[in-house]
Amino acid sequence: MSGQEWWKRAVIYQIYPRSFQDADGDGIGDLVGIAQRLNYLSWLGVDAIWISPFYPSPMKDFGYDIQDYRDVDPIFGTLADFDALAARARDLGLKLILDFVPNHTSDRHPWFLESRQSPASAKRDWYIWRDPAADGGPPTNWLAEFGGSAWEYDEASGQYYYHAFLKEQPDLNWRNPDVRAAMYDAMHFWLERGVDGFRVDVMWHLIKDDQFRDNPPNPARPPNAGPANTLIPLYTADRPEVHDIVGEMRAVVDAYPERVLIGEIWLPTDRLVTYYGHDLRGAHLPFNFQLIGAAWDAGVIKEIVGDYEKALPRGGWPNWVMGNHDKGRIASRLGPRQARLAMLLLLTLRGTPTLYYGDEIAMRDVPIPPDRVCDPYEKNVPGLGLGRDPERTPMQWDSGPQAGFTHAAQPWLPIAADASTVNVAAQRDAPASMLTLVHRLIALRKAEAALAIGDYGALDAPGQVVMFLRRVPGRRLLVALNLGEGGQSLSLPEDCRGATVLLSTDPERPLGDLAPAFTLGEGEGIVALLVDLETAPPSPAA
Ligand code: GLC
Ligand code: MG
Repeated sequence: MSGQEWWKRAVIYQIYPRSFQDADGDGIGDLVGIAQRLNYLSWLGVDAIWISPFYPSPMKDFGYDIQDYRDVDPIFGTLADFDALAARARDLGLKLILDFVPNHTSDRHPWFLESRQSPASAKRDWYIWRDPAADGGPPTNWLAEFGGSAWEYDEASGQYYYHAFLKEQPDLNWRNPDVRAAMYDAMHFWLERGVDGFRVDVMWHLIKDDQFRDNPPNPARPPNAGPANTLIPLYTADRPEVHDIVGEMRAVVDAYPERVLIGEIWLPTDRLVTYYGHDLRGAHLPFNFQLIGAAWDAGVIKEIVGDYEKALPRGGWPNWVMGNHDKGRIASRLGPRQARLAMLLLLTLRGTPTLYYGDEIAMRDVPIPPDRVCDPYEKNVPGLGLGRDPERTPMQWDSGPQAGFTHAAQPWLPIAADASTVNVAAQRDAPASMLTLVHRLIALRKAEAALAIGDYGALDAPGQVVMFLRRVPGRRLLVALNLGEGGQSLSLPEDCRGATVLLSTDPERPLGDLAPAFTLGEGEGIVALLVDLETAPPSPAA
């Protein structure tokens, strides 16, 4: 147990800037809008915000295609707006984490324009160019995440360039030391401006095989998987050399006090934890997505948490993510009641939680009519449910026009049909609302060191119940969640005299004493303080 660094005790809140608050009335969220809503985040009790990319971009992948790493896209505002936002965040004690996208640039980035000019260009080697295969086709069988070959043919030079995502997102060549230096400079630019850290986009993708070997076929392709999943990305991701780069990025942030390096890494637990790096010199927090998309089953959840706890390197700090801008929302996945449990789980497990904007009011995926589709993923591979627009719709602030998100006649994505009831204003003072639950959970996490930084201990439980302890010396909290249908009778651990309920997802349950034999309602979760045997007052006879 140690909790010195701020990011260990922090709750991180992800903002998708297009969708949080539009201040200038163009129907797209912006930095001034975010600044206007910081009071809300401060009230909610989160400690840090991570903002998805707002840099100049042709917006082919809505900001994950960057044209200039050191500026703000006019859609989102100006550098001065950024500085004002950063200052306001600082005043409120909120940490500010930026999204850093080092794997690829936009095809309009001056570096790529120069690289493309000719094979003799000084920046040719900044990207990954290859001659065609013997048959004139792409150099390898590598596939793009958003569909098709990952190689794009360039008529002028007769060579192909590699792109792991859209063809408008050419991959940088991280084997080139000049690329590294330029990208670390970009990190310094924002660190000097006072940002508290980075979430590094697709960190496990940065280095590709230098022998350009074909990826093997994937015999175990999961249903509904993306188009690239027909192959195992053996030679295109999670290469051993990536850890040198992560270590270098870590050194960049370590040159400043109290900064955090977070990695976006979609890998199974045993591979994920290698990104803590040798001697923990890698990412502070390799994002742990194991709960996203996990079957909502007590056995599965227990196993995920147990495996992760076991796999963590000594001293490696855990973290949990329950939703983000790439995956369907929890409230849609699990339904309203179980979504409350998901919030309880996220905010009581050991490790830094990351909360996706809108999940705290149980926003749901919004169906997008075909003529409103924006996401290139849906456009490239339509109809498979891979599109990410449904979870990126505008934040629902109140029951007014456009849910308080914008004054524009039409926001960039449609507003949820239920926004008149599912919104911040309606939920803020409603005792039974999701927002009230999340607000209380965050407050409890803050008040109870056992939750923020305490140990984790799994407990056996019947049926669809997940039960565990969080503890610091002298204080033990019991967390119990009933994922099942119907009530479940349970008993308190034998080594306690009783317990006090501190919080329940069921607004009807009275707080206070909990009998040694108790029942959790359907979809109910509780946090209770155990009264330890050894704290029993000594009997007069003793
Ligand atoms: C990451 C981002 C995703 C983006 C992709 C390419 O996975 O989260 O939104 O499309 O990288 O940058
Ligand atoms: Mg705007």
